[in-house]
Amino acid sequence: MGFAIAIDGPAGAGKSTIARGAAKKLGFIYVDTGAMYRTIALGLLRMGVDCSDEAALAKALDQITVSIGYSGGEQQMMLGEENVTGLIRTEEVSRMASISSAVPMVREKLLQMQRDLAAAHNVIMDGRDIGTRILPDAPLKIYLTASIEARAQRRFKEMTEKGTACTIEEIRADIEERDLRDMNREIAPLRQAEDAVLVDSSDMTIAEVTSRITGLARERMQQ
Ligand code: DC
Repeated sequence: MGFAIAIDGPAGAGKSTIARGAAKKLGFIYVDTGAMYRTIALGLLRMGVDCSDEAALAKALDQITVSIGYSGGEQQMMLGEENVTGLIRTEEVSRMASISSAVPMVREKLLQMQRDLAAAHNVIMDGRDIGTRILPDAPLKIYLTASIEARAQRRFKEMTEKGTACTIEEIRADIEERDLRDMNREIAPLRQAEDAVLVDSSDMTIAEVTSRITGLARERMQQ
């Protein structure tokens, strides 16, 4: 079993940026579990599956193969033989990932794959249920959050820099909708594990949050 850092929190709290940076500093592997849900979501969208149709969903999941690779330290998502890393960040995929990740069958498909990665490597794994369900014994758990306003501003900046037309109101509404769904679903809802360290990044820089987490990791590794 490697040393595992579990980072959970809502959309836009900066989990992936922070986890990627901290992983580099610590020499750990960064596992973005949201990307795995997004990859399944892309597969389901392409197959035109309605998530409320259990039989169709089960059939589609049997045909969808998700795997993960690393290129230059960056996680690459494979859907079958296709590298879909660049295709899973659209709003359409975000919405489908939020809907399909609430379905138990979808979560089961990814659970063992996530645990196997943590068993084989030192990992920083981010998602919604890493500290509560996937790696309940992780020696360091972080619950990374930020105000809705701060998260909406960050996402807006990211989107406009990419040249995507959007308004701050649309983005805020979208984040609120995803928070509500991620926190209120029956299976593996987003919540802070009892033994997680709460980090609110609203007024912190990326460097500050990263060094807080690497500091905590180094402390715990010596224990
Ligand atoms: O972190 P993200 O935005 O890339 O995640 C995409 C969706 O997947 C999000 O709506 C929540 C879901 N998700 C999840 O349910 N469990 C995880 N461990 C990671 C993501």
